[in-house]
Amino acid sequence: MNTENVIETQMLTKRFKKVTAVDRLDLSVRPGEIFGLLGPDGAGKTTTIRMLCAIMTPDQGQARVAGFDTVKEPEEIKKRIGYMAQQFSLYGDLTVQENLAFFADIFGVGRQERQERTARLLEFARLTDFQGRRAAHLSGGMQKKLALACTLIHQPQIIFLDEPTTGVDPVSRREFWDILTELHLQGVTLFVSTPYMDEAERCSRVALMFDGRIVVCDTPERIKGLVEGELLELRPDQLRQASQVIAPLPGVLEVQTYGDLLHVFVDDAERQSAAIEQALHAAGITVQGMRRTRPRMEEAFISLIRKKVEGE
Ligand SMILES: Nc1ncnc2c1ncn2[C@@H]1O[C@H](COP(=O)(O)OP(=O)(O)OP(=O)(O)O)[C@@H](O)[C@H]1O
Ligand SMILES: [Mg+2]
Repeated sequence: MNTENVIETQMLTKRFKKVTAVDRLDLSVRPGEIFGLLGPDGAGKTTTIRMLCAIMTPDQGQARVAGFDTVKEPEEIKKRIGYMAQQFSLYGDLTVQENLAFFADIFGVGRQERQERTARLLEFARLTDFQGRRAAHLSGGMQKKLALACTLIHQPQIIFLDEPTTGVDPVSRREFWDILTELHLQGVTLFVSTPYMDEAERCSRVALMFDGRIVVCDTPERIKGLVEGELLELRPDQLRQASQVIAPLPGVLEVQTYGDLLHVFVDDAERQSAAIEQALHAAGITVQGMRRTRPRMEEAFISLIRKKVEGE
């Protein structure tokens, strides 16, 4: 194992009866990274994080976090990490301040440090004005920020966040990520799972997880670069028919539907946009605004998963 990595797994595997939730996972995270674990429902994100946080034992393989083995030295790991669970539990009847005090007790944070840290974390999470409010009466976004603050009370150097922004409105999501970026700038290592493709753009590296396996692991830029061809976006009036007309055309690599838009991967955007327009016109389909665009994480992810599934 490479001692420079703060998180490292080898063939890490977890099975639940017939389901292999995590399947021979090999991952490594360097100090100070924002590492994104990206994947749809049931991909195995929570199971992975629970094993890394030393609260679930693997069936096979091993993992080291902060230099310690998750099975042999779980207590050493727990001291050094913060874990914000997907279903984190705040105490609804306790105020913001009291919740922080509660977690400070759990982690044995001394009186002196506690005051200073609480003030700083409240400021950091933009919750200073709400410190007397009961947690149950906070908005969903504020509850997430409070949960994060509670996770940080013992100043862990590695933080695991399991879908910290799911179900939060876009503005709060952005604010939450701004806070994570600040932590990143302070040198904290962040391991964040998310189903939101756009959030991957804010990570230093991303692992795309599907069906317990890592499909690809790289920087967001390089992952997007793996998508072949150029991307055209268009809005036809008959989505399904348009997709059927376009897919078999020469030079068309892949067609994805995206809301009421079609995303068409082609070998040559300039040449094929004219051909596509013609073919759609001949089929009696009207198109609004065809434009060339850059593939985002979303398209890259769909494309890579499709190739993987087709390859099997
Ligand atoms: N305790 C359990 N018992 C049985 N099956 C489980 C258990 N925990 C997870 N699974 C199964 O393992 C697979 C991976 O689940 P996991 O919760 O790790 O996925 P996830 O990526 O976190 O999904 P989500 O985005 O829905 O939180 C799923 O098929 C799930 O049903
Ligand atoms: Mg989960």
